Amino acid sequence: MKLKIDHNIELVPISLEYAGDIYESFDEEIIRFLPIDIPPQKIEDTIAFINHSIEQMKNETDLVWVILKDDNFTGCCGIHTLPSRQPHFGLWIRREQQGQGIGKKVVQYVLNWAITNLDVEYIKYPVDKHNIKSLRLIKELNLVLSDVYKMGNIKKLEVEEYRLYKR
Ligand SMILES: CC(C)(COP(=O)(O)OP(=O)(O)OC[C@H]1O[C@@H](n2cnc3c(N)ncnc32)[C@H](O)[C@@H]1OP(=O)(O)O)[C@@H](O)C(=O)NCCC(=O)NCCS
Repeated sequence: MKLKIDHNIELVPISLEYAGDIYESFDEEIIRFLPIDIPPQKIEDTIAFINHSIEQMKNETDLVWVILKDDNFTGCCGIHTLPSRQPHFGLWIRREQQGQGIGKKVVQYVLNWAITNLDVEYIKYPVDKHNIKSLRLIKELNLVLSDVYKMGNIKKLEVEEYRLYKR
């Protein structure tokens, strides 16, 4: 399903149409604080990720969107493991379009939309404690810091898990 965030930012379900854009943008810098050790080395890896996401959407396990600004590819976001009723939200914005307030609008809109519209207890926002930009996105949302843990094999993330509870 599509979500319209404001007059020029829109979320559309991920599809193979965006494979090239995703492959080009999802680089070392973007994954610095994500639980991924190396970015895709060939476009087939990105295509496999998109096909897996489409499958997960059919299974109603995940919601995965492409973020568009003025109809142009700007990043990705998703809500994962819905059947647990404690799903987590994640996003990334392509480097050229960071710092314009897009990430903040997406996080605020999607978390509020999801807590209102999905059958969940709470939504997790797991973030590495050094990911200052990502922490800034949730500053005004009054999320609850509910857990801290380490994640990853090669790359070790120091995760702070914030949660938005259903009221
Ligand atoms: C985190 C991320 C999504 C932010 O997206 P964005 O569109 O650039 O974010 P915004 O422009 O909405 O806002 C970023 C906030 O960080 C601040 N910021 C920007 N650059 C910064 C920097 N170098 N140091 C500190 N703060 C910075 C901005 O001022 C803003 O805060 P403010 O609104 O309180 O002033 C983006 O940097 C990204 O995709 N990172 C890589 C993937 C990632 O880490 N995802 C999050 C996983 S939890």
